[in-house]
Amino acid sequence: PKTIYFSRHGESLFNVMGLLGGDSDLSARGKQYARALPSLVATHIPNADRLTVWTSTKKRTIATAAHLPHKKVAWKALDELEAGKADGLTYEQVEERFPEDFANRDNDKYNYRYQDGESYRDVVARLESVIMDLERQDHVLVIGHQAILRCLYAYFMNYSFERLPYIKIPLHTLIQLTPGAYKCEEKRFKVDI
Ligand code: F6P
Repeated sequence: PKTIYFSRHGESLFNVMGLLGGDSDLSARGKQYARALPSLVATHIPNADRLTVWTSTKKRTIATAAHLPHKKVAWKALDELEAGKADGLTYEQVEERFPEDFANRDNDKYNYRYQDGESYRDVVARLESVIMDLERQDHVLVIGHQAILRCLYAYFMNYSFERLPYIKIPLHTLIQLTPGAYKCEEKRFKVDI
């Protein structure tokens, strides 16, 4: 691709409460980001009329894309890392209820698989088809989740597996990656909300 665009979904109700996973709606701030996104896109993405917007099947990414006038595709493969038994809990509750798991995740975050859930390694595997498609496209904006965007970002920016689960993908920011011969050029456009 010439250029790829990423954004996390707007702040969700689960983000506000510090809960993992789920399928919550956007918070008031998150909705504000969704309303601001069309002008952010128009300002920073050239030929935005040719843009296709990819979301997951979760409410928070679909709601973030809601005001964008472009063609949209919802991919199940873009759904957030499945936290299994930890879904809907806070990190503190996970530590309390599953202390060993919590420690294991800390030791090897890339390979740690949640009980009844996924690891970052699993997510990288399920994103393979999305990445292959993304490689062939030119004008795509992915509105995704934190863990998912870490995997996509690491792929294009050539980050190691060890660093991947710690990449900072902030909320309310449009990330532009332009692949070059040796490395990707990156720009970030933040909205103050
Ligand atoms: O907190 C938002 C979130 O997307 C959770 O739903 C998800 O489990 C988590 O981030 C992934 O981040 P980490 O792998 O650092 O826990």
